[in-house]
Amino acid sequence: MNFTEAELKHAYRLLAPRPTIIVTTESKEGHVNAAPFSFTMPVSINPPLIVFASVQTHHTFKNIEDTKEFVVNIPNEDILSKLWITGEKFPEGVNEIEKAGLTQLDSIKVSPPRIEECLAHLECKVHWIKDSGDHKIVVGEVIHADTAKNILKDGLLDVENIKPVLHLGGVNFVVGDHLRQV
Ligand SMILES: Cc1cc2nc3c(=O)[nH]c(=O)nc-3n(C[C@H](O)[C@H](O)[C@H](O)COP(=O)(O)O)c2cc1C
Repeated sequence: MNFTEAELKHAYRLLAPRPTIIVTTESKEGHVNAAPFSFTMPVSINPPLIVFASVQTHHTFKNIEDTKEFVVNIPNEDILSKLWITGEKFPEGVNEIEKAGLTQLDSIKVSPPRIEECLAHLECKVHWIKDSGDHKIVVGEVIHADTAKNILKDGLLDVENIKPVLHLGGVNFVVGDHLRQV
């Protein structure tokens, strides 16, 4: 089947399921923000650079523009319903970590906090930001990283045990080989 020109905007959904992260940021007034993102991937090993794409109007992007810092929190199935709450549209200044019933943990090298219930945390400083159509690309340098015990097996993510959350689109996620809807 060929996509019509009008349908091409849905072509990105073929690049799925996508790893899903929760990005935590802080406004310049010190308000904590959290939101999920699935347009994300590593883009350099040394230096360690990771990228995600955000709509310009998201509080996440505004905070990153202002403070140049963020944390990539790696969730798993246990907090899928809470991850979904962090994606709801709340007014500026509302702390989605609290709204979702998650727990803040001070970061080691950046101001935005980590999410305790997440399996791993990548603390980042902005490397560069560029326009990308209706999104902004944010490349961050990982300056500190930590993981929960036992999430790696032979240096690789132990996916059978930790069940990472992969986004298919809308309310649809893949966990292991199962389709899950929030
Ligand atoms: C699973 C999931 C993945 C998402 N991925 C992205 C993404 O990659 N880029 C984006 O701009 N928004 C994405 N969103 C939407 C934002 O998370 C959502 O609009 C959120 O309210 C933005 O919050 P903020 O304004 O506090 O930053 C995603 C939402 C969900 C639930």
